[in-house]
Amino acid sequence: MLNSESIRRDFPILSLRREDGKPLVYLDNAATTLKPRQVINAVVRYYERYTANVHRGLYKLAQEATSLYENARETVAKFIKADSSEVVFTKNATEGVNVVAYGLNWNPGDEVITTVMEHHSNLVPWQIICNRFKVRLKFLDITEDGYLNVENLTSLISKRTRLIALNHVSNVLGTINPVEEITKLAHEHEALVLIDAAQSVPHIPIDVRRLGCDFLVFSGHKMLGPTGIGVLYVDRDASDALQPAFGGGEMISRVDLEKAEWNDMPWRFEPGTPNVAGAAGLAAAVEYLEEIGMDNVRRHEIQLTDLALKRLGDLESVVVYGPKKTEDRCGLVAFNVKGVNSHDAALLLDELENIAVRSGLHCAEPLHRRLKAQSSVRASFYIYNTLEEVELLCDTVEKISRLS
Ligand code: ALA
Repeated sequence: MLNSESIRRDFPILSLRREDGKPLVYLDNAATTLKPRQVINAVVRYYERYTANVHRGLYKLAQEATSLYENARETVAKFIKADSSEVVFTKNATEGVNVVAYGLNWNPGDEVITTVMEHHSNLVPWQIICNRFKVRLKFLDITEDGYLNVENLTSLISKRTRLIALNHVSNVLGTINPVEEITKLAHEHEALVLIDAAQSVPHIPIDVRRLGCDFLVFSGHKMLGPTGIGVLYVDRDASDALQPAFGGGEMISRVDLEKAEWNDMPWRFEPGTPNVAGAAGLAAAVEYLEEIGMDNVRRHEIQLTDLALKRLGDLESVVVYGPKKTEDRCGLVAFNVKGVNSHDAALLLDELENIAVRSGLHCAEPLHRRLKAQSSVRASFYIYNTLEEVELLCDTVEKISRLS
């Protein structure tokens, strides 16, 4: 296990106590993570010491701000084993998906394949594109135990498949999808691949070259970073297929009244003043995670998840969703207490023990329909969570199940 005690000291919010003295048990990390002092300080430092716009002014402060921003890009690129020219800063993962959706040239009859286990952010943009450009949307189903039905992919791929868009890790089932295998198959059929890595980059070591994808998106706030900063990785070879979805300053190399020429990668996808403080905060978050080591992050979460799966799985009154094998999933567990509405369960966890979990549909409504679940409770773990907290979660779930 990680040394949670020393890690927890870095997170100011964890030192707060409720009126009854109970500490916060924060198990909603798939929604957003807490921020360590190092990240908060990096954001404040930009505003206190380096405030200037980037890529514009020639004065020293502007140069320093530009270095801060571009160094942040370098740090993030190394973290996912990309080149810094392939790392586009966005607002969040959702924006990254939309930049790809609106940046590809669609022809009527083109096909996009996605899956039934997507977050709305990797579904609704494709629905919009399909309606607007007469593109066809196809879906890869899941097996009863929560894995993607990859065998069916060959029958879904056709000559018209332009893109396969899928998540690396499901934000409900926790399933780690075999994206390498899918990317290989897609490329054999000359289709592009976009990976929604919002739930994987914060939790497992990522090497974009090994995944082989063309596009990959994630959010800073789910990996200790600030809100409002995310990443769209664009593989150098795929960049020609993508036109800028948004225009404005700094994304151009020349502008005439009638037309413009684009700047190099990655700036051609970053019009307007970027979130410099956010980028600095995200770089600090990456440095923090690297100091711990992503293999250690993964090992820590496996232990927490393993305990949660075992304890909740032992309860007759609880239904757990997703793969049974811990190593096939990331650090989150969605479940229902039979006969108890998920929102009621979440409110009770909060009220009884100050435990924060998400309840409802988790922005994955079609998946819940597929699972025949009205909604679910989701506990999601990170580096500061302890086995004791997981025990408390399970004890309290057991208590709630006895109340019903
Ligand atoms: N995508 C986030 C979640 O799954 C908000 O909770």
